[in-house]
Amino acid sequence: MGTNARGFAFDVLEAVEHGGFADDLLRAQAIDPQEAALASEIVFGVLRHRSQIDYLIGHYSGRTAKLDREVRIALRIGIYQIRYLDRIPPHAAVSTSVDLVKRARKSSAVGFVNAVLRKVDRDPIPYPSDALALSMPDWLLGKWETQFGAAAAYAAAAYFLSKPPAFQRGERQMDFGAQQIVPLLRLEPHHRFLDVCAAPGNKTLQAAESGVQPVACDRSRKRLAAIPVARRVQLDAAQTLPFQPVFDRILVDAPCSGTGTLGRNPEIKWRVTPEEFARQAERQVQILREALAVLAPNGRLVYSTCSLEREENEEVIAHFADRIQTHGYRLPGREAGDGFFHAVLA
Ligand SMILES: C[S@@+](CC[C@H](N)C(=O)[O-])C[C@H]1O[C@@H](n2cnc3c(N)ncnc32)[C@H](O)[C@@H]1O
Repeated sequence: MGTNARGFAFDVLEAVEHGGFADDLLRAQAIDPQEAALASEIVFGVLRHRSQIDYLIGHYSGRTAKLDREVRIALRIGIYQIRYLDRIPPHAAVSTSVDLVKRARKSSAVGFVNAVLRKVDRDPIPYPSDALALSMPDWLLGKWETQFGAAAAYAAAAYFLSKPPAFQRGERQMDFGAQQIVPLLRLEPHHRFLDVCAAPGNKTLQAAESGVQPVACDRSRKRLAAIPVARRVQLDAAQTLPFQPVFDRILVDAPCSGTGTLGRNPEIKWRVTPEEFARQAERQVQILREALAVLAPNGRLVYSTCSLEREENEEVIAHFADRIQTHGYRLPGREAGDGFFHAVLA
């Protein structure tokens, strides 16, 4: 028991370094549920605390030189189990990480990994910066401090260090923050309702609870097919919405960087760049412009993202300044659930 979990965790962490998403990767392979649960705990724990764990690798090894990827991953897995989990005997964490290094054909590093992991204890270690104490990239934490103030920024980063609580809605799991968007539409059963970025359909289904018959659009045919509503429309690359301005209510739950969901998708914080926010914003403005063009007179449109970045939020809606009614953030650590931005336009 256990070796499979570590091997699986190692493979997932390696695939994440090549651009994969932990959540998808962990779901893709059928292994024993107990092993899968431990693998998931290790993968998400390592990703949530990655910069902190890398600092610890330097602390215990005295090495600042670059390590081979496989060696670094095996050390991260070992340190996470010893310092952050309560139920793994340290000797088991050491020997399974040594096995991982052998399995990766890095036998020359066996002695090093063994020696470093044997030094790992649970004594408190002061981190030299707030960013490290919160396991955040410096630049992103600094950006949030500018946007929200230090206390709110740190509370959000701290929230993202733990596993997000599970909330059920209907048949599906749906984050509590995510559930607060659809009510902003003030749907009534007679409304014509368009959901522009609908897949995988969580908010479409929540909207349908009010009695409306949603029209669900998305760029992804495959993801759209999974939404059990009557009318689904796959959008083409040109992004033109094939409708007249007849919709009383429109939801634009736009594709975004996802920085409001770093507890769920911790790899994003190590991957995202300022250029990414600009790229997302360009697409978001285009999607929102198209959507506003099919809103009926006196209609109400809600724009939302699970991003905490002003480039994707305030700066996107600023293109339509005369139509903004209200807007605001739900910040993790301040409000329950993941982070969201919403704006009501009319
Ligand atoms: C944040 S997700 C939507 C989540 C969904 N509203 C829910 O609650 O389940 C964004 C979606 O936008 C889709 N998308 C990406 N580019 C798009 C575009 N140009 N037009 C419409 N949808 C797009 C993605 O395929 C993705 O499914």
